[in-house]
Amino acid sequence: MRASAPAGPRPATLLRPVTTRRFPEGFRWGTATAAHQVEGANTNNDWWDWEHATDSPCAESSGDACDHWNRFESDIALLAEFGFDSYRLSIEWSRIEPADGEFSAVALDHYRRMCATCLEHHVEPVVTFHHFTTPRWLAGRGGWAEPGAAEAFARFCERATASLGDLIGRACTINEPNVVAFVGYALGLFPPGHTSVDESRRVGEILVDAHRRATHALKAGPGDFPVGLTLSMDDYQAVPPDDAAAIVARDEARELMEDPYLEAARGDDYFGVQCYSRLRYGPDGLLGPEEGVEVVEHMGYEFWPEALEATIRRAWDATGHVPQVVTENGVAHEDDERRIAYVERALDGVLACIDDGIDVRGYTYWSLLDNFEWAFGFAPRFGLVAVDRTTMERQPKPSARWLGGIARANAFSR
Ligand code: GCO
Repeated sequence: MRASAPAGPRPATLLRPVTTRRFPEGFRWGTATAAHQVEGANTNNDWWDWEHATDSPCAESSGDACDHWNRFESDIALLAEFGFDSYRLSIEWSRIEPADGEFSAVALDHYRRMCATCLEHHVEPVVTFHHFTTPRWLAGRGGWAEPGAAEAFARFCERATASLGDLIGRACTINEPNVVAFVGYALGLFPPGHTSVDESRRVGEILVDAHRRATHALKAGPGDFPVGLTLSMDDYQAVPPDDAAAIVARDEARELMEDPYLEAARGDDYFGVQCYSRLRYGPDGLLGPEEGVEVVEHMGYEFWPEALEATIRRAWDATGHVPQVVTENGVAHEDDERRIAYVERALDGVLACIDDGIDVRGYTYWSLLDNFEWAFGFAPRFGLVAVDRTTMERQPKPSARWLGGIARANAFSR
C-alpha cells in the first residue's frame, strides 16, 4: 500500500525539478554486437580454437551463441522498434576469407543483407572489420605478431568494402587494438595466450599499421563513410591524485594501453571511445576496487559510469579534437534498474562534454543481446535483450525501450 503524501508543503528534496536536455541534431543512438559473440557456429578462427584448447582459460565455448547469423533480420527489426537509429555489427574475417586469398561470395552476400536490413529500418549500419577474431590460417602463421598481418588485413578490407561499401554508414577498422595486443600477447587471457609486454608493444605497432592500411583501403572503395578505430579506455586515476609515484604508475599504464592508439587516431574521421569503468593506481601500481564501491558481477571492475566523461575528454584532447563517437558503453547487471542508473550517469557525462564544446556524434550501448563475453562465457549479461540459451527466444528488458525512447526523442529527462 502506498504511503499518503505528507500534509502541508512537500519538502524541497521531493520536488527536484525534472530537466530535459537535448542532444545535437543528427546525434546517433545505437546498440552493438560482434560476430563471434552473437552469430553462432563461428568455427574458423583463433577464438574457436582458444575456447576448445585443453588448457583454455575460457569458461565455455561460444557454440551457437545467439544464432544471430540466422536471426539478424528480426534482431535488427527489434532494435529499430525500440527506437535506435544505428547498429554496430562486425563482419567475420574468417567467414569472408576462409583461406588465404580465397573469398566467400555467400558470406559477403550475408553481410550485405545485414547492412541492407539496417537501411530498410532506417538504421545506420556501423561495420567493424575486426572484432577480436582472426582467421585460423593467419593465426597459424603468427597472427598479429607477423608484420605481414597488416597487409593481409588491408586486402580483406579492400575486398569486403568492395561488396559492402555502398551500404556502410560508418566503419571501424579494428575494435580495441589495445586489448588484442595486451590481453592476447602480454596478459595471456586472449589468443594466442602469450605473456610478453615487449611482444605486445610490437603487436600494437602492427595493429596501428593495419589500421592505417585498412583506412586507406576503405576510403578508396565504394561508398563515403567515416572511418576510425575504437579503443578500450578507462578513467586512469592516481591515488592520491597528487602522489608523484602514483602519477608515474598511472602514466606508465596509459602509455602502454592507450597513448600510441590515441596518437594513431590523429587525423582520422572519428574516434570510437569504449569505456566501462576506471582504474586506480597507487605508488606501487594498480589498486583494486575502492572500498564501498559496487563491483560489476563477473567483470571485477567498479560500477563507475562517470569514467565515460573522463575518457571522452581525454580522447578529444589526445587525438587533436577528432570527432568522438561512444562506440561501446554499458554494464553487465542482473538488475535492469541498475543498468538504467548506469546509463543515466553515463549520459550525464556525455552531455557535460557536449556542453563544453566536445564534438560527440553518437552513443552506442553495449550490447543489444546478452551474449558470449569472451573468456567469461555467457555469464555476464550486458544486453538490452535477454536470450533464452535453449530456445534462442529474445526477451527485451525494460532498459531497451527506456533507452530507445531517449533515442527517439534525442533528449534525456531526469
Ligand atoms: C570488449 C569488446 C566487447 C565486450 C564488451 C564488454 O571491449 O571486450 O569490444 O566485445 O563484450 O566490451 O566487455
